[in-house]
Amino acid sequence: MPKILVIHGPNLNLLGEREVDVYGKLTIDEINSALEKTAKEEGVEIEIVQSNHEGEIVELIGKNKGKAGALLINPAAYTHTSVAIRDAISATKLPTVEVHLSNIYAREEFRHTSLVAPVAKGQVSGFGLHSYTLGLKAAASIMRKG
Ligand code: DQA
Repeated sequence: MPKILVIHGPNLNLLGEREVDVYGKLTIDEINSALEKTAKEEGVEIEIVQSNHEGEIVELIGKNKGKAGALLINPAAYTHTSVAIRDAISATKLPTVEVHLSNIYAREEFRHTSLVAPVAKGQVSGFGLHSYTLGLKAAASIMRKG
């Protein structure tokens, strides 16, 4: 079965020390361990990448056209700004699940718009670590059943 590509966007490498009041003390390593565990339970392979660079994320998505079975992405701040990431998802037709730790609709108005959401299969937002694990389960299910 093809792998699921997991992308963490900008500044998520700083989790644990970054805006602890919003994101809590959870670190990216803890998220990745939970994802590996969920992947094992679901019987899927995952590849996890974190990048602070929009172009790198665009290239990574492009390179995975026809290779990855699905994409799980937290585009972080690029959620609200990146036509390029949205177009990469749309162009590659990778079935995509968008996740956010915080509830982006309960925060500042500029976070209420996701440019990625219209080209994603769905979005999980506001459940902290569970956003990722629920998102991975959804991606695995989409990959299996379409
Ligand atoms: C985030 C929400 C974004 O608005 C923000 O820029 C992030 C993290 C989240 O996971 O809640 O960096 O994607």
